[in-house]
Amino acid sequence: MKIEQVTPAIGAEISDICLNNLSPTDFDDIYQALIAHKVIFFRDQDISPETHIAFAKSFGEPEPPHPVYPSIEGYENIVLLKSGAGSKPDTNDWHKDLTFKPNPPFTSILHAIEVPDVGGDTLWSNTNAAYEALPSVWQDYLEGLEAIHDIGTFRNDLYYKGGIEAVNDGLKSTGSAVHKMVDTHPVSGLKYLNINQSFTRHIVGEIQGESDRILQYLYQHMAKPEFQVRLRWRKNTIAMWDNRITHHYAICDYLPEIRHMQRVTVLNDKREP
Ligand code: SIN
Repeated sequence: MKIEQVTPAIGAEISDICLNNLSPTDFDDIYQALIAHKVIFFRDQDISPETHIAFAKSFGEPEPPHPVYPSIEGYENIVLLKSGAGSKPDTNDWHKDLTFKPNPPFTSILHAIEVPDVGGDTLWSNTNAAYEALPSVWQDYLEGLEAIHDIGTFRNDLYYKGGIEAVNDGLKSTGSAVHKMVDTHPVSGLKYLNINQSFTRHIVGEIQGESDRILQYLYQHMAKPEFQVRLRWRKNTIAMWDNRITHHYAICDYLPEIRHMQRVTVLNDKREP
C-alpha cells in the first residue's frame, strides 16, 4: 500500500489497497498509519455493509445504535447520515464523536455513498498540534482541569420530536460525562486538547461566563487552518479518524443536494497497549 501525507499537521491518503481483500499485516499497517496521521483516506472502495462492519471489527468493538441518529436498515451498527432538501445536517460544527459518553469511541469509519458534485467536504483538525501551539501559561492552566460534556446540539432533534420532555428524557438517558481538558494519547503519548464545540458544556470549577469565555478562546485557537486537513469526497471514498486526538467539521454548503454517508464507530482500540 502507498501512504501519502496530505498536510504537515494531519491526514494521509492510502492507495494501492482494496478494503475488500486485506491481509492481517494490512490491518496492522492501516492502524499504524492512523496513529501516525490521525485521519486516513481511501478512494474508490466499493464495500458492502458487511465489509464495513468487518473492517471496523478488526480494530475493536462497534458502537451500539446511536442515541439520536438512525441506523441503516438491517445493520444496527451502521449510522445513517443523510442530508438533503428538508433534512439539514448537524455535523457542521467542530466535534469529536460521542464525547457525552464516559468512554468516547476510538475511531469512526465513514463511507461516502452519495455526495454532491461540489461541496460537502469534511475538515479534521489535529488537537495535539493545537495543544503544542498554546502559550505555556495556557498549557499550565489547563493541566488537571476537567470539563463536562453533554448531548449539545442533539437537543434540537429531541425537541422537534417530543418537546421539552423529550429533551429532559434524552439528557437523563444519555447523561453527561466529565473528561480531562488535556489528555494523553494512550498509544503515541502525545498530549491533546480534549474539548469540542458540540458537546463540551462547562469547565468544572469555573463560573459559567468564565467557562464560556475560556472555551471560546480555545475553540478559536483549535480552528486554525494550520492544524487542519480538508477532504473532498467522491462516491466510495472512506475516511477513518482517531477520535481521541482529532475533531472534525462536515461543511454544509450543498443543500438541497443529497449527501449520504454511512458510519461505523469503534468503541475500543484493541491494539492499545
Ligand atoms: C461525523 O460527524 O461523524 C460525520 C462527518 C461527515 O459527515 O463528514
